Amino acid sequence: MTDLRRRYVERIRRDGAPLSPQLSEAFASVPRELFVTEGFQRRDGTWARPGSAGFLERVYSNDVLVTKVDGGVPVSSSSQPSLMAIMLAALAVQPGDRVLEIGAGTGYNAALLTALGARVTTVDVQDDVVARARAALQRAGVEGVRVVAGDGYAGVPNEHFDRVIVTVGVAGLSPHWLAQAESPRPGPIVVPVEHAGTHPVLAVHCAASGSDVAGPGVVTGRVVCSSGFMTAAGPLTARHPGAHPHPVPATALTAFRPAAPSRWEHSLDSLAYRDLWYAAGVWSTRATHAAVPGRDGSTLILLDEEGTGGAAILPDGMVLAGGAQEREYAAAAAGIVDRWEAASRPPMQAWRITLARTGDSATPIWCPTAWDLVD
Ligand SMILES: C[S@@+](CC[C@H](N)C(=O)[O-])C[C@H]1O[C@@H](n2cnc3c(N)ncnc32)[C@H](O)[C@@H]1O
Repeated sequence: MTDLRRRYVERIRRDGAPLSPQLSEAFASVPRELFVTEGFQRRDGTWARPGSAGFLERVYSNDVLVTKVDGGVPVSSSSQPSLMAIMLAALAVQPGDRVLEIGAGTGYNAALLTALGARVTTVDVQDDVVARARAALQRAGVEGVRVVAGDGYAGVPNEHFDRVIVTVGVAGLSPHWLAQAESPRPGPIVVPVEHAGTHPVLAVHCAASGSDVAGPGVVTGRVVCSSGFMTAAGPLTARHPGAHPHPVPATALTAFRPAAPSRWEHSLDSLAYRDLWYAAGVWSTRATHAAVPGRDGSTLILLDEEGTGGAAILPDGMVLAGGAQEREYAAAAAGIVDRWEAASRPPMQAWRITLARTGDSATPIWCPTAWDLVD
């Protein structure tokens, strides 16, 4: 087991997570298998249970472990360890910090937080998930975590926290988190916020105290990394005026054909393609992703209003287009590639994001509304 965890920590580091000595120690000391004792879904759809072949190897791999599925859709999991590590590093937890986590899931991330010295309150909307997380934390002998059942939109009323971490994809931040993230040494709110069909993780700061739920303070954020979280239930995923379309399945799209030739001899690598994707989401509210018929994998597209056509931008800069407005969409897609090139291919971390209160007046959320290139 010691070897397994040592290799696990090395793998997380190799996959690009910045592991401080404290974070390494946290991943090395918390027994992840005790948080998935009811098993997890393998890629082929079967379930791995404790004792089954390869169980511990998967537990100590750098993989997400899907622990609950509803109607074929994953609804709870232990996130990918390197993503957890990057998010925990961005949270910059200090010993003694009060941390609010939204999305208790298995309880494993909360246990890592306590290993970093935090006192954790973690909220999950599913009662059975809450019960399992409590049992897992007890089984692992973890103290200092309170698991609360409820919609994370409310945070924990009448309490305050030094840090907030959200481990489920949202359309925007709850004003309650801004109000509750009030502390003499406030840290960032680390949160995956929908953008062009994905969930880049943002580190969000509030310039003024968020003591008013209406929130007059200036709320800004920077991208920490890309991610593909499952989406939250309830008002946290409300549609809002700046929302991008949801990704569409391949079967929804009409035939796409070449509209502009490839632009680069060497295709963008996956990181650069995500940077272009992020910029496309800044410059077009129609940016999202889809499996374009006849092509493998997921592609950045500008989806038309019909939801069946538009224009796709491939990693080599080629534009494919289809549907009734294919010419307009192809021109917009080519314009985005031009603009990204002219701006010297900014990475997603180069954008300063301003968030504003929007959405339903009874359950508003704070969403990205303006972007500036700052480096
Ligand atoms: C990716 S899992 C969280 C992983 C978890 N932090 C861990 O270490 O295992 C996402 C969780 O968010 C929960 N969730 C979804 N919508 C929510 C909401 N509105 N409020 C609170 N939790 C929510 C789901 O029930 C699910 O358990």
